[in-house]
Amino acid sequence: MNKRISIVTGAAKGIGKAIVERFVNDNYFVVAVDEDEENGNKLSSEFGADKVKFIKADICNEKDVQVLFEKVKTEFSRVDVLVNNAGIIRDNMIWNMPVEDFDLVVNINLKGTWLMCREAGKLMKQQNGGRIVNIASRAWLGNRGQSNYSASKAGVVGMTRVLALELGKYNVCVNAIAPGLIDTPLTQKLEKEVLQKLIDAQPTRTMGLPADVANAVAFLSSDKTQFITGQTLYVDGGKSIGAGI
Ligand SMILES: NC(=O)c1ccc[n+]([C@@H]2O[C@H](COP(=O)([O-])OP(=O)(O)OC[C@H]3O[C@@H](n4cnc5c(N)ncnc54)[C@H](O)[C@@H]3O)[C@@H](O)[C@H]2O)c1
Repeated sequence: MNKRISIVTGAAKGIGKAIVERFVNDNYFVVAVDEDEENGNKLSSEFGADKVKFIKADICNEKDVQVLFEKVKTEFSRVDVLVNNAGIIRDNMIWNMPVEDFDLVVNINLKGTWLMCREAGKLMKQQNGGRIVNIASRAWLGNRGQSNYSASKAGVVGMTRVLALELGKYNVCVNAIAPGLIDTPLTQKLEKEVLQKLIDAQPTRTMGLPADVANAVAFLSSDKTQFITGQTLYVDGGKSIGAGI
């Protein structure tokens, strides 16, 4: 296939779906990965089976990830871009947080991303080229009620830096994006008043759109960014600068 091949996790909705759309518009072939089969299956009909293939996988299951990469290697023989976007939240103050919610968040956000990076890293090293973009979060800097989530995303930032060191000489660039408040099914679950407070604390007084993150992903995935690696790019309306109110 002449098109660049990308894998996007958490592709069924929210930011992941916007990344799929952006890649389709940029003439990539997209392997869309999610455990949500119902929404994932709709992607090929929405964007075209010649542009998007959905594969169901749970990214924190080692076997699922290995089978996924076997399928991709058999069908396409290479991967140009991996975007690790799948992630969840289970917020609570630490004194109320069950250990299961710590394990679940770290397992999906950090271990799942690591498993995907390991398989992509082997393949990209072999093919001597590639891009990995990890979706972290501005919350890695710290958010009350997110000791599990912030820790998992800080782990993603640290891992991104290490993989940039390990894969650099094989022409593989590894970067992270740290989104702030983005309008997706994940944030639509927040209580209205809580959401308004978060918006009021933004320097821009707005939420970002999934496409804002997808645009940054497109930049870091491009073959024009071979000298940018190990970096974390904030897409957060300025929230990471400091207090907005
Ligand atoms: N929305 C925000 O404000 C925001 C801010 C910062 C960072 N992020 C990060 O962006 C990413 C996407 O967030 P979103 O808001 O679009 O979330 P979302 O809940 O709308 O979508 C996440 C997708 O990931 C999939 N997923 C979850 N666990 C999975 C697993 N184990 N295997 C495969 N797929 C799995 C879900 O099925 C879902 O389709 C996440 O990593 C999130 O932490 C989001």
